[in-house]
Amino acid sequence: MSDRVYIFDTTLRDGEQSPGCSMTVPEKLRMARKLVELGVDILEAGFPIASEGDFEAVEAVSREFSWAHIAALARCCTLDVERAARSLAHARRPRIHTFIATSDIHLKYKLKKSRQQVLDEAVAAVELARRHVDDVEFSAEDGARTEPEYLEQVSRAVVAAGARTVNIPDTVGYSTPKEYGLLIGRIARALGDCAVVSVHCHDDLGLAVANSLAAVEAGARQIECTINGIGERAGNCSLEEIVMILKTRSDAYPYHTGIHTEHLYSASDLLSSLITFGPQPNKAIVGRNAFAHEAGIHQDGYLKEKSTYEIIDPQSVGVPEGRLVLGKHSGRHALGQRARDLGYQLSREDLDALYHRFTAVADHRKKGLMDEEIVSLIQAGQKAMRVAAD
Ligand code: KIV
Ligand code: ZN
Repeated sequence: MSDRVYIFDTTLRDGEQSPGCSMTVPEKLRMARKLVELGVDILEAGFPIASEGDFEAVEAVSREFSWAHIAALARCCTLDVERAARSLAHARRPRIHTFIATSDIHLKYKLKKSRQQVLDEAVAAVELARRHVDDVEFSAEDGARTEPEYLEQVSRAVVAAGARTVNIPDTVGYSTPKEYGLLIGRIARALGDCAVVSVHCHDDLGLAVANSLAAVEAGARQIECTINGIGERAGNCSLEEIVMILKTRSDAYPYHTGIHTEHLYSASDLLSSLITFGPQPNKAIVGRNAFAHEAGIHQDGYLKEKSTYEIIDPQSVGVPEGRLVLGKHSGRHALGQRARDLGYQLSREDLDALYHRFTAVADHRKKGLMDEEIVSLIQAGQKAMRVAAD
């Protein structure tokens, strides 16, 4: 089995449909440009039946990035599949992504359909989609809570009908790595080389990344994810986290993606500027503090040898360099280094005096001190020395 893992980005579909994340067509185009630059393998641009804007977005992205693999979502019904096909008319590598729920709980309360009906509709939708495009993905919505034998039956049937990718979403973020890995392993063994097994994990229990990772170990070779982990409710598997785990811990996870990781930070930044919120400050990889060191002991170690406290080179994800935050936990050593970086060579006495003034300010601050404030403190010290000498 190949060690290449395909990254299916759904920032513009699952991500965009969540509160505070809607984007206009021009905004989606800007984000799509970044995602293409980042090297995502498949870009899901929208759910064309959902709105005119979604249809236009898929069409516009397909026109502008005609060489890229562009996906459009469709429920398993004629209207949806045909609309998705129309929206992809300009794509050279179009993918129709059709889905229907397969768990008993969804069948009983939401769809009010029998297992046989759902199976038949899934097969019919895949066959119809294949009449429009070669590349068809089928998703068994709420797959993680679907009875495994039935899930296997549906998976085999849609592959026989022409699906090349079978996605088993953990739609409600309920699964655990061990359980999900077992389920994905079963489907991967059942399908063999006939289709790519894909995973799509929501983060309701904070396990989306861990579940995706377990799925890859069990045989999945496509991960559906979003920038900054945006998506329904608690969001989707975070693209930057899963990609950097595979890269940083290739010793433990011998798989690779085609992502140009140096664009991760700017992709996150662009998304934050287009929607109404950014990642939390302590978010792995792209959070404001992800490479910031404040504690004195950490700063001291980091200044002696970065690898003492840094497992990822910030430049490899597009962050210019690890930032030492100067706050109340910072030590003399880090302050002296910052003064030198700012162009001031201080004697031991001057550094002591500066440190004294610095801690007096930093003690009352929640946030660290900015470089300009450090310069002001240094200059205030120099002025006091001149006055004393006069
Ligand atoms: O979470 C989910 O099940 C989905 C499917 C439509 C893939 O987003
Ligand atoms: Zn989803």
